[in-house]
Amino acid sequence: MNLRHYVRDIPDYPKKGITFFDITPILKSPEAFQYCIDRFADLYGESGATKIVAADARGFIFGAPLALKLGIGFVPIRKPGKLPYKNRCVTYDLEYGTDTLCMHVDAINADDKVLIIDDLMATGGTAEGMIKLIREVGAEIVAAGFVVQLTYLDGDEVMKANDVRCDYLLE
Ligand code: PRP
Ligand code: MG
Repeated sequence: MNLRHYVRDIPDYPKKGITFFDITPILKSPEAFQYCIDRFADLYGESGATKIVAADARGFIFGAPLALKLGIGFVPIRKPGKLPYKNRCVTYDLEYGTDTLCMHVDAINADDKVLIIDDLMATGGTAEGMIKLIREVGAEIVAAGFVVQLTYLDGDEVMKANDVRCDYLLE
């Protein structure tokens, strides 16, 4: 399976000069989608992870089926105002401005071993926000898995600085 054939480059989206990596061809192909979940399961089946934490929205697509396959819980991280119970939120810097991510206060606890899943690593800002939220609770992060890495950005450095093991299905 060459996953590269299922990731479509869209030039000048959402803005001129930016190339968007569109993973919807993976989702349209049951073989490619299953391949991603199986690869993640091979990577993390023995990791001891007790929860998958994934970011709204594309992280949910890969995180939820993997959680079921591994037989562990799934925790959604969402933008402010979307989670109905008590929230724990983190604000982090973007290239221009800031962004905020939130998690339910009882979603994970200090003895959880957390696996972070998202479709794509770009600047690492989203992943770093999730790392902060998870570590604030005192939980351990076993790894972070992404379908695609944008290698021309510094996401991998951000993850190294945070001492988190990272895996990419497609680099
Ligand atoms: C995209 C992607 C990652 C994030 C990566 O999500 O799904 O979550 O950007 O970028 P970063 O490493 O620079 O933080 P986006 O915020 O576009 O939202 P979506 O998942 O709802 O499409
Ligand atoms: Mg996202």
